[in-house]
Order: sequence, then C-alpha cells, then structure tokens
Amino acid sequence: MDNNKPIGIFDSGLGGLTCVKEVMKLLPNENIIYFGDTSRVPYGTRSGETIVKYVRQDINFLKTHDIKMIIIACGTASATALDAVRGDYDMEILGVVAPACNEAVKRSKNKKIGILGTLGTINSGKYREHIHEIDGTIEVISQACPMFVPLVENGYSSGEIPTLVARDYLKPLRDAGVDTVILGCTHYPLLTDVIYDVLGRNITLVDAGKSAALNAAERLAQLGLENKSDKPGVVQYFVSDNAPNFSTLGGMFLEREINNNVRKIDIEEY
Ligand code: DGL
Repeated sequence: MDNNKPIGIFDSGLGGLTCVKEVMKLLPNENIIYFGDTSRVPYGTRSGETIVKYVRQDINFLKTHDIKMIIIACGTASATALDAVRGDYDMEILGVVAPACNEAVKRSKNKKIGILGTLGTINSGKYREHIHEIDGTIEVISQACPMFVPLVENGYSSGEIPTLVARDYLKPLRDAGVDTVILGCTHYPLLTDVIYDVLGRNITLVDAGKSAALNAAERLAQLGLENKSDKPGVVQYFVSDNAPNFSTLGGMFLEREINNNVRKIDIEEY
C-alpha cells in the first residue's frame, strides 16, 4: 500500500469540513479528497434505503481517486448506512458514531449523556445503541434538531435566532442534567457557542467529526498507513452541485479559505 495515497472524506454537503479541519490539524501531511453531496443534501430527512444508496455512490466516487481509507464525516450516513456498506469494500471505512460515543462515555462523570443529531440519526438509535454496548447503565437523552443544519448553512451560527431554537431543542437535555453532549452531526460544531450559552460552560461537548479524525489518526498508525512525507498534504474538493456556493460557505466550516478549485461531478454516474 502506498502511504502517499489520499484519505477520502465525505458528507452530504458542507458539514464534513469540520472533520477535514481536524484531520488537517492532526495529520498535516495527509492528502485528502473531500466529496460534498451538495445536490442531495440534506440526508437527515431521507429514508435509510436512500441514504445507503447515496453512501455507496459517494464511496464509489472516492474510490476512483485511489484512496487508502474513508471517513464518513456525516452523522446521518454513519448512523444509517455504515453497517450496511462496510463489508462491501476492501478498505477501512470509518464513521463518526463509535469514536464520539467512546469519547463521551470516557468523559461523562454523572453517566447522563445527551445526543444531538438529524432526524435520521436520532431515529436510527445508533448512538444510544453504541453507548449502551459500552455501559448499559448510562442514561441517554436523544434530541433531533432538524432546524440546526439549515440555520448553519444559511449563516445563522450565532445570535438570537439560533439561540431561541437551541433553547427549545436543548430543554430535555437540561432538564435531565446531562454533563456531556455529543454533537452527532458534523454541522453542529458551528453552534458550539450557542449550545454553551444555553447549557452552560461546564457541559462537555463531544464533536463527532473531531473524534472521527482522532480515530482515523490512530487507525492509520495501527495499519502503518501514515503519510511519512514532510510536504504539506493537498486537499481536493468535489461537490455534486453549486461549486461556487461551496467555496464561499466552506471557509466558515474549515476556518480557512478554500483556495483549491472546487470541482463538480455527476454523482449519479457512480
Ligand atoms: N452533516 C450531516 C450529519 O452529520 C447533516 C446534514 C444532512 O442532514 O445532510 O448528519
């Protein structure tokens, strides 16, 4: 296996860039191929069957770039499709659910964990299932937050409007006294300050994309697949629609400008 091969990372759109940001910090020499399925976002409201079909196409596209590993940087796709597709590919495919749950269980002191995600993610029950596989005594409070993704994608990551919405979504978690909350959707780290304002700064927030990035670094080391080059890695971005929009908004998620050209592909071909 050639260690210089890129890592493939995908999401339904922009959210996965919060994971890319962490991979770039942790593994600055890794080359990355990112795919954002911007023509079919959101995944969170779709059926499991549709998401599995989309995820197969996303992986098939990334595989054309001769990648060495895949990170599904989407809570919805990880929760609803990873188990179904993992066995079909001869390559390491990592999701965000298991790493985030492992971290949350380690960090919760009062054994009350909140999970925030899209409708699809929360309905799949995957985060809860994984937490209970580790420790069945943990109280899990799950909350779907369907308004969070459109708010973030339209630039409402702070201020009165997201705070009002967050107060409503987070009430059950506050009432239950959770001490740890999993941001189970890769869009949600952009709402970190809003969530702290509502739940208080003492809460531990687990960023699922960041946990996935740490897990990927560990797996690359275990498999002996780290890129040993001393040159900075190259990131290439692909989308299935509206490349200019992705370039503009992507900087907000990545906290740096997307200088490379964003290329549009036809995902239905894969
Ligand atoms: N970033 C996706 C996730 O992590 C949410 C966006 C969507 O619904 O497609 O679940």
